[in-house]
Amino acid sequence: MTLQEAEKTIQELSQKINYYNERYYLHHESLISDYEFDKMLQDLILLENQYPTLKKTDSPSQRVGGGITKNFDTVVHRYPMLSLSNTYNEEELTQFGERVEKGLRDVNDLENLEYICELKFDGVAISILYENGILTRAVTRGDGVQGDEVTANVRTIRNLPLRLEAADVPPIFEVRGEIFMPKEQFEQLNLEIEEENKIRTQKGIAALRLLANPRNAASGAIKMQDSAQVAKRGLRCYVYEIYGEKLPFVSHEQGLKALESWKFEVSPHWKKVQKMEEAIAFIQSWEQKRFSLPLDTDGMVVKVNLLAQRESLGLTAKSPRWAIAYKYKPQNALTILQSVDFQVGRTGAVTPVANLKPVKLAGTTVKRATLHNADEIQRLDLHIGDSVWIEKSGEIIPKITGIDKSRRPLAVQPIAFPTLCPECNTTLVKEIDQVAFYCPNETACPPQVCGKIVHFTHRKAMNIESLGEKTIQAFYAQGWLQNVADLYDLDPEKILTLPNFKEKSVQNIIEGLEKSKQQPFKNLLFALGIRYIGKTTADILADYFGSMQKIEQASKEEIASIYGIGEKVAESLYDFFQNAENQRLISRLAQAGLQMAGQQKVLSSDILAGKSFVVSGTFTQYDREEIKEVIKNNGGKVVSGVSAKVDFLLAGDKAGDSKLKKAQELKVTILSETDFIALLNATEA
Ligand code: IVH
Repeated sequence: MTLQEAEKTIQELSQKINYYNERYYLHHESLISDYEFDKMLQDLILLENQYPTLKKTDSPSQRVGGGITKNFDTVVHRYPMLSLSNTYNEEELTQFGERVEKGLRDVNDLENLEYICELKFDGVAISILYENGILTRAVTRGDGVQGDEVTANVRTIRNLPLRLEAADVPPIFEVRGEIFMPKEQFEQLNLEIEEENKIRTQKGIAALRLLANPRNAASGAIKMQDSAQVAKRGLRCYVYEIYGEKLPFVSHEQGLKALESWKFEVSPHWKKVQKMEEAIAFIQSWEQKRFSLPLDTDGMVVKVNLLAQRESLGLTAKSPRWAIAYKYKPQNALTILQSVDFQVGRTGAVTPVANLKPVKLAGTTVKRATLHNADEIQRLDLHIGDSVWIEKSGEIIPKITGIDKSRRPLAVQPIAFPTLCPECNTTLVKEIDQVAFYCPNETACPPQVCGKIVHFTHRKAMNIESLGEKTIQAFYAQGWLQNVADLYDLDPEKILTLPNFKEKSVQNIIEGLEKSKQQPFKNLLFALGIRYIGKTTADILADYFGSMQKIEQASKEEIASIYGIGEKVAESLYDFFQNAENQRLISRLAQAGLQMAGQQKVLSSDILAGKSFVVSGTFTQYDREEIKEVIKNNGGKVVSGVSAKVDFLLAGDKAGDSKLKKAQELKVTILSETDFIALLNATEA
């Protein structure tokens, strides 16, 4: 095939795929079988791989992903992503209407006041840039001023056009919308995870965590590093706003219709109204109906329709004066508290869990609810047999929010918080300024010992997949595991004597343990499960000290002086290493061959706080990712494009011409690598 022929075929295939994709995702029509569709896509991908110069960023092959992004670039939004002011009651909606009218009357612009009511989608906000009809950039909300660039991931979303064909498409504009995982898709994925977990349990491998809710699932997916994985998550996007210079519309309604005509998916359930009473009636009409939609919604947004009126009303620091979000009350139900269990976690904290008479709530049956701690039980004045209100607000586990005391039976029992650990009978303690009761028997309380070992094996810790919770409990029951160092003394011959353990699974366990010895030092520090030391804190400590030995020798004051480390962490870390038993544990781990040192990194500080950098070119002392890390470790921000808001362009060898030129035009300070190092040292001194 000649290059010309390949180009033509690629074009034809792309057109066909785009057409069928649109029919399917926007019009719900399957004109060809999945097989035929996948075949076309395969052919296209093959051809593009053969002729890489012909691969375009708007090719439908982008839908299947493939690129890996290690760190997402931080990008400043062209138009800040504001939030909406919220209300839970109708009175405030009326007041909002009055404010809008007053605002417009003051500038003599009250005529033709109309509102558009739209559902408020519960997903992940996204801003997508189209240049000359092509999707070129997608950025998450972040802090509203700047967010993460997730373009490759967003290109996999099937109902978003990668290229716009219409003649009236403006040369440059941004759309705002909500990325979501359809409820059905969410449930399907959780079923798959459950199936996978059955196999994992059989093999004794750690179980995967279920997705908590569709919104978390969507926000997790959009931040995945591997876009091919994102493509498999079935995300979708509804768009609801368009931003740009000199757009050819006078109203939001026109904008929505144009977006739809350009083949974006706009949720069809919006309504134009003249009066706030109509908006309120529309809101009420959706309170129950919304549960039949394919995605979660948590309210209704009421927006002024005419763009000129929006302009007159303007913005406050955080939100526009021309829109408001009405939030539906969380779904609740009344049921009976049957009993309370007390669970002991890895850290020894005792958490009360309510067992409820099963009740339906927002589509699922609820049997248990968290009670958080003893104070909460007292605050609620909770008794066994009480009729309790439970509420679900986003989280997967509902909470008890109140009691209907009028339904309290005559003979109710108070809930006695145990004074002894329900697992090991040790007297519980409560620390000053803490609400939780703890079991102090760290080294012999079964759920604490097993919990610590399970934590040690987690992916972000030592990543020992072949050791699941059940296996750890089984080994503990045999008396083989008292702490994490015992893992490395496990005897494969003995394991083989247990039922359910075959050659292969034992081999996996031993290999997993062997491999874990190469996990970086910072993972080991996190894996130890020291109180208050999560992954981020462990990373900071590992970068600062560089080795276990240095941490062991550090004073409490030195630890507390590290940027990003508080007193509580310092005390906990210091105490951990003062304890003789822990010292023995560490030396056994060292003997087993685990990584006791890593690389000491540039000290962290906040000396670059509030400063933003664009990094371009190559450097001698650092590679590009490293220098970005240095900026971030010292409190600065890294953004991808030069704008007037950027403080510095850090220009290495072969820095981009256009970036240099733009920096000069906008009077952004240009730093060389030497300047940068001098800046760090100067400000440090
Ligand atoms: S309009 C200036 N319309 O709600 C505000 N937002 O609290 C422009 N949201 O971050 C947003 N559905 O993620 C708008 N129909 C809708 C929406 C919507 C959900 C989210 C959006 C935004 C948040 C604001």
